[in-house]
Amino acid sequence: MQSKVAEIRKSALEACAQAETLQQLSDAKVKFLGKKGELTLVLRSMGQLPSEQRPLFGKLVNEVRDELDSAWEQRETQLAQAEEERRLLGEGLDISLPGRIIRRGTLHPITQIINEAKTIFMQMGYEIVEGPEVELDYYNFEALNIPPDHPARDMQDTFFITEQLLLRSQTSPVQIHTMERRQPPIRIVAPGKVYRADSDISHSPMFHQIEGLVVDRGITFADLKGTLQLFAERMFGAHTKIRLRPSYFPFTEPSAEVDVSCIICAGAGCRVCKETGWLEILGSGMVHPHVLEKVGYDPREVTGFAFGAGIERIAMLKYGIGDIRLLFENDVRFLQQFTS
Ligand code: DAH
Repeated sequence: MQSKVAEIRKSALEACAQAETLQQLSDAKVKFLGKKGELTLVLRSMGQLPSEQRPLFGKLVNEVRDELDSAWEQRETQLAQAEEERRLLGEGLDISLPGRIIRRGTLHPITQIINEAKTIFMQMGYEIVEGPEVELDYYNFEALNIPPDHPARDMQDTFFITEQLLLRSQTSPVQIHTMERRQPPIRIVAPGKVYRADSDISHSPMFHQIEGLVVDRGITFADLKGTLQLFAERMFGAHTKIRLRPSYFPFTEPSAEVDVSCIICAGAGCRVCKETGWLEILGSGMVHPHVLEKVGYDPREVTGFAFGAGIERIAMLKYGIGDIRLLFENDVRFLQQFTS
């Protein structure tokens, strides 16, 4: 009977090694080790042996069973792995390929500059307001002290929709809407889109401005200057200087154009500032008494200052962008450079 066990052991080990699938392996297990399997049957027939031989025989069978169990276990692991590999290959899925990165979007540089400007003014106690992009002639021109035949209309190539309706050419009409709605004190900034029939490397038919307006008792030109100085420092860096040049806008008197010290050469003179050391960034002035009167304010009681800056111009200066059209082409390679 011992030789019978040896035989079973040998053919079981062979069957185990030859099994090519988990199914074959498990069939072979039933055949040799199952309830009616060959090894089990031999064990059952142990009664035929003389009783003194039984313990030794029992021990032998158990050893063989243990050996076969671990042989099965090993083969099972191998086959399971092989089957998993076959399955993955069949799926055509290569799990060793690097994953696909989901790129995060970034805010458009114009949006970033608007957000920065809003934050700077909010920290100074300003409110953010908005106004319509389709405007009446009255708000875009007339209430801003620009009557129908005023030559200042020629400075802005306006898109007219009808004789009275137009795409706003500046954010200044928001000043009028705001003053019509409320009483001083007023301290607002109004960012938004404006439109002019103009297109080249520094002009786009649609662009953005941010308008500021402060009206209260006793507001002076010094308040305007201090406010713009702080804005320039926050926007362009702590060492930025500003310079006010006399200018003309129909809705302010006196008016000033404001330059910042060149952010490229810090005032030494370079290509960007055309060797002047200065860069123009906005228009400003004390609100014209006519404008205050038109909205029903008394210019002897309250005074105010206003300013308007081009957002694209600030972005181009700040980021060294040479052509305004880059801002509107939406080339991802360009936009990705402005991760905040
Ligand atoms: N609206 C003017 C423009 O688009 C800019 C401007 C100048 C706005 C002076 C103002 C200001 O509020 O006071 O050219």
